[in-house]
Amino acid sequence: MVVKNICCLGAGYVGGPTCSVIALKCPEIKVTVVDKSKERIAQWNSDKLPIYEPGLDEVVKACRGKNLFFSHDCNAAILEADLIFISVNTPTKTFGNGKGRAPDLKFVEGAARMIADVAQSNKIVVEKSTVPVNAAESIMKILKANQRPGVSYQILSNPEFLAEGTAINDLLNADRVLIGGEESPAGEAAIEELCQIYEHWIPRKRILTTNTWSSELSKLAANAMLAQRISSINSLSAVCEATGADIAEVARAVGLDSRIGPKFLQASIGFGGSCFQKDILNLVYICECLNLPQQAAYWQSVIDMNEHQKHRFTAKVIESLLNTVSGKKICILGFAFKKNTGDTRESAAIYVAKTLLDEGASISIYDPKVENSQIHEDLKYVGITPEHIESHLSIFKDAYSATKDCHAIILCTEWDEFVTLDYEAIYDQMMKPAYIFDGRKILDHNNLLRIGFHVETIGSRLGQPFKNRRYSTSPQAL
Ligand code: NAD
Ligand code: UDX
Repeated sequence: MVVKNICCLGAGYVGGPTCSVIALKCPEIKVTVVDKSKERIAQWNSDKLPIYEPGLDEVVKACRGKNLFFSHDCNAAILEADLIFISVNTPTKTFGNGKGRAPDLKFVEGAARMIADVAQSNKIVVEKSTVPVNAAESIMKILKANQRPGVSYQILSNPEFLAEGTAINDLLNADRVLIGGEESPAGEAAIEELCQIYEHWIPRKRILTTNTWSSELSKLAANAMLAQRISSINSLSAVCEATGADIAEVARAVGLDSRIGPKFLQASIGFGGSCFQKDILNLVYICECLNLPQQAAYWQSVIDMNEHQKHRFTAKVIESLLNTVSGKKICILGFAFKKNTGDTRESAAIYVAKTLLDEGASISIYDPKVENSQIHEDLKYVGITPEHIESHLSIFKDAYSATKDCHAIILCTEWDEFVTLDYEAIYDQMMKPAYIFDGRKILDHNNLLRIGFHVETIGSRLGQPFKNRRYSTSPQAL
């Protein structure tokens, strides 16, 4: 079989961009992305796509209506597809066995049942969602138990490694594509079909093939190890603050060791995003189920350190503001979990905003891409009442209006535009003393100190504004 028709179940942050790039690079293949949410599909078919991702608009514009289609008719797309990606959400369970750790596989199972109900010809089913080790076996069980005569299935694992904000570039220039499959002639043939799709733009040597379980576990391992680097650098940031060392210098020195490398050593307010926490919890749960408690505890500590970092940073804000933020107006710059996305899932800014609201502060928020309704939804989800949101939260369309009359600015997301703001003008319209807490270490701290701000950041001590310390004569006196 040569794949001529692809269907993707799930038009989210992964399904949408991944299949748009496949359509761009494989013009002879018809790609249909379906979702059970009619609203999401309508957005994919509109001028304002449901997700913000640099470069995505151009790719969608180039292919939509030619060989790329967005539809909510899941059955029709499954019927005509040779290959089906399952790219549905796999959130952490919020109830029952494994609550708070195990992934909830109801959407994956739902997708498998949909395929089994509808399929009338052979299908290659590809797990694109991040799943626990062995999920392919569960999918196969569902498909086999409901198989029509003459229909056969092959299940592949093809985890996605894109990061939000750089998804298109990550897809076009993937470090590697990983494909796991059954170790049998039919399994190998299916792997080959998927390889041929990626080979339209990814060199063969960067397409790794392996068995299904190794592929599934590699995805969890990659995310766990990336997050572990951030927790490691964040743990060292506390040591820096206590000693006077500078975490940027430490990261530079450590990262120049070619065995370690410089990436993912940026100390921060704490990692967010829909994947790291969920996937590590998944790994912790797998270790527990395999009776590997030490391994479970090791990976759990990566999450614990991240929670601690968010708490430590927010506590520093409150302590610096004379231990009370009640009645004060505080501006949060950036609400997304990282720059170049409108996604707020697990964003550290949610924790900061909730804590400040609980402490009685009024907050103003500006983020270039996050929708107002999303901010409201996130704060309601963490327990802030609609009345409290109404009376204590304002959302602005630019940083200058958001910072006006504020006692403090907390920078939560590293958007480029925050680096080039006119901080003299911002200082002039703030309450004094004016504080800036740079949770991303992207601002020019010396300039801010010169202007008169009280500046705090992660992993280094900055002290008071220059004018307050001009009488200091020696480094010790600082
Ligand atoms: P998402 O929530 O943005 O999108 C999932 C979509 O699937 C939703 O729109 C939902 O309506 C739809 N859906 C659920 N069940 C369906 C069904 N039976 N039929 C059709 N549509 C259905 O999720 P996402 O961020 O795209 O993540 C998808 C998977 O990819 C997850 O397992 C995630 O862990 C993994 N992943 C995500 C990223 C990322 O950066 N977001 C990166 C790599 C891997
Ligand atoms: C991550 C993985 O990188 C990607 O391979 C996987 O497919 C999905 O999960 P994503 O969550 O989209 O991608 O973004 P990523 O760039 O990994 O950032 C995650 C979080 O870590 C963000 O909050 C980011 O700000 C933070 N981070 C990242 C740091 O705090 N320091 C760093 O050095 C790097």
